[in-house]
Amino acid sequence: MGMGVTRQGNSGAGVSILILAAGLGKRMRSSLPKVLHDLAGKPLIFHVLNHVRQVCPEAPVGVVVGHGHEKVAAYLKSEAMLSDLSITLIHQPEQRGTGHAARCAMESAWGVERVSSNHSILILPGDLPLISGELIREMLRPLEARTPLRALTCRLADPTGYGRILRSLDQQRVLRIVEEKDASPDERKTQEVATSIYSFEPHFLSRALLNLSANNAQNEYYLTDLVAMVADSGLEVATLDWQDVEQLRGVNDPWELAQARQLFNDRCVKKWALQGVQFLDPASVRIEVLVQLGSEVIIDSGVVLKGLTHIGDRCQIGPHSVLNQVTIESDVIIKAGTVAESAVIRSFAQVGPQAHLRPGTEIGTHSKIGNFVELKKTKVGDFTSSAHLSYLGDAQVGSRVNIGCGFVTCNFDGRVIEGERKHKTWIEDEVFLGSGCQAVAPVRIGRGAYVASGSTITENVEPGALAIARARQVNKQDYAKKLREE
Ligand code: UD1
Ligand code: CA
Repeated sequence: MGMGVTRQGNSGAGVSILILAAGLGKRMRSSLPKVLHDLAGKPLIFHVLNHVRQVCPEAPVGVVVGHGHEKVAAYLKSEAMLSDLSITLIHQPEQRGTGHAARCAMESAWGVERVSSNHSILILPGDLPLISGELIREMLRPLEARTPLRALTCRLADPTGYGRILRSLDQQRVLRIVEEKDASPDERKTQEVATSIYSFEPHFLSRALLNLSANNAQNEYYLTDLVAMVADSGLEVATLDWQDVEQLRGVNDPWELAQARQLFNDRCVKKWALQGVQFLDPASVRIEVLVQLGSEVIIDSGVVLKGLTHIGDRCQIGPHSVLNQVTIESDVIIKAGTVAESAVIRSFAQVGPQAHLRPGTEIGTHSKIGNFVELKKTKVGDFTSSAHLSYLGDAQVGSRVNIGCGFVTCNFDGRVIEGERKHKTWIEDEVFLGSGCQAVAPVRIGRGAYVASGSTITENVEPGALAIARARQVNKQDYAKKLREE
């Protein structure tokens, strides 16, 4: 075939990455493109690209899209964490197989440029989210002379569904890959399988793809057939036999997705445990990929940590708490059943049990938020306490404030004033609110004021004042008896 096999540098120099992500994903039985399904808080394709980003951020990346391409394109455009990668989308108009997808890429402007810059091409399928940076690094090693292709393989106890690697009798040379559907019963016994991860010399790849045929059980152009082309032309197919087979689990149907999620989560929990986090019931905890945990954190049963949640050193997270995009400084205690989203909790604060922190909540250091307290768009200062049964919405609460049981900010009156639907409540430092009070917003309770229990505050309270806003009590002697007799 007369292809020039050249060497390229390591660690991303002279290397391009091609991701195959156009497939129909029929087996997923889902309207969402397969590569957009969630794994630990991010789409499958994110996980693949995130490893690429960590190992070879400079490498030009081509992503072949087809089925649901608008959605995949919109996601990749909006993903800030991948914005440092140079990603080119390549359209595969019809899904005619992995070989056809690669051919679309190599015939596109992106592929032509790869060949002219002599970049070796690392092909990764978009549906192997459990791969590692180490695997990518190994596959980026320069190809040997007379070896235009290196295939990543592994040995599976149950190889069902995978393409099988067929070797010469002495096992030395790879001859071809046969897909499960095309394999004879004998060939199916082979445990060495193809993973869809290949490094290609670019000139070979772009030329060989033109010679593929779809003469097989699925009438598809198989990328795997390039292996036989290399072997038949007298060149060598290099293989890299990967030991950690769990990294190579494909996601083809919802059950494989569920298993990938479980595996990923187990790894995540183990990683944090080895960094000093203590889990009381590790199998019950779910931790997404972007979560960061400090040391000596203790996590109880059924905790779910989502999004960009950061938890500082020595925090305790009580059972069945759900924290999403929450920043927690050090030495914080979160008690059972707390639900928090887009909130900040400063050091030595205590929250819960059963507290609800909605977006825009900030809790100051040493403050206490107790059971059945809900906060929304509310900033609470330091050493402040709201221990039971309260709602604080659109409020600014100072430091050393005591909020009695059952306090409610009445922040919505059904009207819109200056574009605001919700009205603000200001509670300045050192205010004491007795139990069972309401503040009808917009309203301000000045520094050090004292609000008597059961008050409905509708007007601003001056600093240092005592506000009592309730009807005076009337006691009628012996009236109870009279009432009963009636
Ligand atoms: C493929 C391999 C098989 C290997 C297995 C490992 C082929 C023919 N088979 O099978 O040898 O053991 O992966 O995981 O290569 N895609 C496109 N366009 C298409 C078809 C597929 O972009 O027209 C993409 C898919 O989105 C997917 C990847 O290619 O990300 C692999 O396709 P899939 O259908 O999952 O192939 P497998 O049956 O898993
Ligand atoms: Ca697959």
